[in-house]
Amino acid sequence: MSDGDKIWDELDNIYDQWGIKEIPFSESASTIGQAKIKEVFTGRTKELREVLNLFRGRERKRLLIYGWIGIGKTAFILEILGILQRKTKNTITAYISLPQGMDLATAALIALAREMEDDEWAKQQLNQMGLPTKKALRNRKVKGKANFSLAGVEVQEEVVAIQKPQFPSLSFEGLLQRALKKSDQVVIAIDDLDKQDPARVRQLLLDAQGILKSGASFIFTGHPSGITRDILIAERGLFDLALKLEAMDVDTIYEMLVKYLNSARPKKFLQRFIPWFSNAKKFQVALDDPQAVAPFTPETARLLCERSGGVPRWLNRLGSYVLLKAAKLDADIITPEILQQGFAYADEQVRGQSGLTPQDFIILELVLEKGILSDANVTIDDLQRMKVNTFSEILPILDKLVQQDLLRRLPSDRTAEYAATPLLLSPSNEDDNEEKEAD
Ligand SMILES: Nc1ncnc2c1ncn2[C@@H]1O[C@H](COP(=O)(O)OP(=O)(O)OP(=O)(O)O)[C@@H](O)[C@H]1O
Ligand SMILES: [Mg+2]
Repeated sequence: MSDGDKIWDELDNIYDQWGIKEIPFSESASTIGQAKIKEVFTGRTKELREVLNLFRGRERKRLLIYGWIGIGKTAFILEILGILQRKTKNTITAYISLPQGMDLATAALIALAREMEDDEWAKQQLNQMGLPTKKALRNRKVKGKANFSLAGVEVQEEVVAIQKPQFPSLSFEGLLQRALKKSDQVVIAIDDLDKQDPARVRQLLLDAQGILKSGASFIFTGHPSGITRDILIAERGLFDLALKLEAMDVDTIYEMLVKYLNSARPKKFLQRFIPWFSNAKKFQVALDDPQAVAPFTPETARLLCERSGGVPRWLNRLGSYVLLKAAKLDADIITPEILQQGFAYADEQVRGQSGLTPQDFIILELVLEKGILSDANVTIDDLQRMKVNTFSEILPILDKLVQQDLLRRLPSDRTAEYAATPLLLSPSNEDDNEEKEAD
């Protein structure tokens, strides 16, 4: 057996001991698929109630879901779409993450066309934009009419740049009418509105008046940056509901952790808890069972949840780093010491991510030293150290560090205040832990 094979088997052993098949955490909801979302989705009951209540009516709805990075916007809208799909008989749900530089009508057109695989016109729209359609390729293969190979088709389609339709709003309207002939309701979620240049977002929405007044329902997501607030104030009436997702409480995060771990439990682990249960696949270890958080102990699970600050992405990232480190250390349970080493590993990994410049690190260190950095507390010395004249010059860098999970923006409406995320070992994060231990 090669060394590599041996390492693989050793890892198998440790995962076996932990009672999971794999590390269940993921950074982004868009990569985990609807089935898994349904399995792990936790909390947000008040928000779900509010949104689902709106969808009981037959009128079309326009919703804005906003919240900071990693708070769970994508997970939330995917859960909504999943519920609508499961519970209503005749709804078309479509999801798209808004590509850079694309207008909303084109995005809506693509999202809807992708869900209408049997509609010739929808396929044609996608083909014209050089986007693949599963059905069209299959048909060509079945008919065997085309005299080029299937692989050739795929290559050809991949290299064609997206050709925007000439009149995207009209194309969308046309397609929507075809969709509404067969379905009662069309719901289109356009995610990541604010990952665009902020100045563009407002324009995008203004330009989208046409599709927003169409018969489809829309769900948009964005960050609560200044621009989103402006839109909410200035364009009163543009949305039927604007819902802010906030950080979650520790108990909900704990429940989330259990669900993620349960989603990766092999049958034999579950059977240990309830051997007579024949369909163990559907069985979940109860929330209050200490084994529900294995390989964490209830104590370290709680410390992890507290550290995540109520932000689902930070729970996912920290959880994943801690387990990776524990596997390296061959630890069969996550003791407080192993947990600390996992946090140190997270710190090492997020600092080591690519694309960080020396200036980024200078700014990061400054934030770590000061605890909080804002226009109000920055000194002339600080500015000199960062090699800028004004605080506003570093705003783009601060926002980039936020995108990379190194910094977070504090929820203050007046000024932009930045602090380290719990992925970093910072003096302020240490204080937190000590205070809690002292309590
Ligand atoms: N309510 C929830 N229940 C379970 N997992 C969640 C929940 N909300 C978010 N998550 C998980 O947390 C991670 C981050 O969530 P998500 O990708 O939805 O954040 P986001 O707000 O869309 O982030 P971004 O601002 O980067 O788009 C994902 O792995 C997601 O599955
Ligand atoms: Mg998202």
